[in-house]
Amino acid sequence: MAGPTSPGSRAARALGDPRAVPDRTWVRALTGRSREEIDGWLLECDAALATERAIRAAHRRGGRESYAQFRAPFDLYAIVRALAPEVVVETGVSSGVSSAHLLLALRMNRSGHLISIDLPTHQAGRHLARGESMVSLPPGRRSGWAIPAGLRRGWDLRIGPSQERLPEAASEVGSIGVFLHDDLHTPEHLAFELRTIRPRLRPGSVVLADNTVWTGRSFDEFARSLGVRVRRRRRSDLVGLRVP
Ligand SMILES: C[S@@+](CC[C@H](N)C(=O)[O-])C[C@H]1O[C@@H](n2cnc3c(N)ncnc32)[C@H](O)[C@@H]1O
Repeated sequence: MAGPTSPGSRAARALGDPRAVPDRTWVRALTGRSREEIDGWLLECDAALATERAIRAAHRRGGRESYAQFRAPFDLYAIVRALAPEVVVETGVSSGVSSAHLLLALRMNRSGHLISIDLPTHQAGRHLARGESMVSLPPGRRSGWAIPAGLRRGWDLRIGPSQERLPEAASEVGSIGVFLHDDLHTPEHLAFELRTIRPRLRPGSVVLADNTVWTGRSFDEFARSLGVRVRRRRRSDLVGLRVP
């Protein structure tokens, strides 16, 4: 059970996003690792509160009081700690909540690197206007603007449409240990990204997709083609699978 003292809860409070309390059952299903191991990695997040507070403070400075786009940063952290992948790829960066936690986990692993792809949109005026997307960049900011500077070392951020950047990145790497889709949420685009990374997946790779309420059956069909179950985080539309 997740409660106010369960592993990862302190980190979620420091980040300022109650949705971020990790789903340890989900992480377990995706990694096959024990509850004790997973709790150990989540406790590392609770010990890194300065990082979470820095991300939250950066959001506030950027005019986003309660902004945290990716709802499972600590789950992501534990998955990367568990798998110790050489290469992690994500599409969709915005302020960089997911990227920051992937980078933090890779740093703790002391190996592996992150390729992030983002085609940012920019906030029109000084303040976020009504109806304007929260994922847009505040004036003068770049993708990943809320990531603490010390975490960015070695980060491979590629700006441009994933329709171009993802095939390039996939052709450069031997394999992808963890992939996160969090950019353009359409059925066609998710299917394209899954098709693109598929030859780079290996047994045990974890593939995640957020906001699947907008992507039709693309993830389900991908899972079926691999012969695996889709694992849903709580009752949300953030899903994942483990390659057999
Ligand atoms: C939901 S946000 C990403 C949130 C991020 N993962 C986080 O943790 O905060 C989606 C991002 O994808 C970008 N994007 C939209 N379409 C894209 C495309 N075709 N290629 C790459 N990035 C895209 C958006 O501009 C935005 O920065």
